[in-house]
Amino acid sequence: MSLSELPVIDWDALHAEAKHIMTMAYAPYSKFPVGVAGLVDDGRIVTGCNVENASYGMTLCAECGMVSNLIASGGGKIIAVVCVDGSGNFLSPCGRCRQLIFEHGGAHCQLMTPAGPLPMSEILPWAFGPDQLS
Ligand code: THU
Repeated sequence: MSLSELPVIDWDALHAEAKHIMTMAYAPYSKFPVGVAGLVDDGRIVTGCNVENASYGMTLCAECGMVSNLIASGGGKIIAVVCVDGSGNFLSPCGRCRQLIFEHGGAHCQLMTPAGPLPMSEILPWAFGPDQLS
């Protein structure tokens, strides 16, 4: 798919989806619900919320759910991501989740920040990724 064929990024729609899925979070321990929505290169939107566990280290971040839904619904490349906290404010993904987004979005995938969209190449500089293994 060429750049001109990529879907237009409707950031408001992504934000709305992220805020909605955030309300489904299972976060009884941290009481810090997170929601994330990603636009896939075929136009669909995939979402995820955090799912905590009494064994805290087993917690699944919202991005884990989003990536699982991406793959389970047919795969593809994520081109834009909005991650929010319980107030709907843009949230900075944790290090592990930056790696997850990089794997399925690459360096050009855009993440919404309070300063506007930034490419993953700036969110996770000098990233280790699939290219290192080829
Ligand atoms: N969390 C996410 O879901 N994604 C992130 O990128 C940062 C942190 C969750 C994990 C835990 O359930 C809660 O936020 C507090 O750390």
